[in-house]
Amino acid sequence: MYPTRRSVLGGGLALLGAPRLAMSQDEASLARIARLSGLFYGAAVTSSQLMAGDFTTALKHEAEYIVPEWEMKWGALERERDRRQYGTAQKFVDFANANRMSVRGHTLVWHRNIPAWAITALKNKEYGLMQRHVRSTVSNFGSIQDWDVVNEAIEPTHGRSDNLRTSPFLDALGPGYIGEAFRAARFAAPGARLVYNDYGFEYELETHRTRRRALIRLLERLKATSVPVDAVGLQAHLVTRDIKFDPVAYTSFLGKIADLGLKIIITELDIQDTNLPADIPERDGILADHIARYLDAALSEPAVIGVMTWGLSDRYTWLNSDPSAKRPDGLPSRPLPLDVDMKRKPMWDAIANAMRNAPERSA
Ligand code: XIL
Repeated sequence: MYPTRRSVLGGGLALLGAPRLAMSQDEASLARIARLSGLFYGAAVTSSQLMAGDFTTALKHEAEYIVPEWEMKWGALERERDRRQYGTAQKFVDFANANRMSVRGHTLVWHRNIPAWAITALKNKEYGLMQRHVRSTVSNFGSIQDWDVVNEAIEPTHGRSDNLRTSPFLDALGPGYIGEAFRAARFAAPGARLVYNDYGFEYELETHRTRRRALIRLLERLKATSVPVDAVGLQAHLVTRDIKFDPVAYTSFLGKIADLGLKIIITELDIQDTNLPADIPERDGILADHIARYLDAALSEPAVIGVMTWGLSDRYTWLNSDPSAKRPDGLPSRPLPLDVDMKRKPMWDAIANAMRNAPERSA
């Protein structure tokens, strides 16, 4: 069903800079369509999924970037102090190298998935610990040129005037920990794209408006103190219940990020369908429309350089194990572009069309 990656990418590269030519449905892939607009497309995967034949065939065809769902988080790399285990994470790098793909590193500093011993050590004010973790990880994966350095540091409901989340890092190091993490990453990888990644910005909800303002303020502070941040990752875990998406408000938010000289990556796109009808064509249609409205707005901002979905096929999605994403009728959810049998869904077309119609990026 899928042509080889070599033929597809070879064709894609040859077409760069040329008018966007039509390609057959079989030749087409999200990565190839993205490239023709100067974007990139990729997907999150787990190491066990890299063993599933039909899935990896689809992945190699559709994506040019992969990101490990959890295998590069601190808790996975250093469950026991000073016994770093890189083997599982290395599988992503090997898979990417073998298939001419790239890896996004995810994620160096996050309030979740910190090993228990490190939480204790941070409580005991071991100041260099976080920086050492960042430097060791980034140096170990020298070929990775794209890192989520700090993940989910904003939480206005925690009541601080700087809107930062209280976390073991904040408690131990104060608000400067974010800048320190980026500096440590830059030291270890001078040429890598260093990303601040976060969620909850899309909708006209008071919480999302507050989070948008908080993110812009944080980025302004980072820029004012010369913190080496290159891009913002917007997770974009979308929902279809009780929401209002306003493309004007959203693009104005993206414009503010771009005005700070930062690139933007949609890093974890997927969509919950908890409140939607059971009927699959109807459900898929609503989900695809929502994704289309979101991506049309997002990709109208030229600072947006790539789109990653959090998973590729409905067979493997973190939402299957998230109680808040469970449908009341118990049916499996359909949050991703391919179905459980690797067939393209209307969401695939929505993503493809949005990328195809995006204003062409220059670099
Ligand atoms: C999730 C993974 O998908 C799960 O497999 C893991 O158990 C928990 O984390 N935002 C992020 C991701 O930045 O790291 C999270 O990934 C999903 C939410």
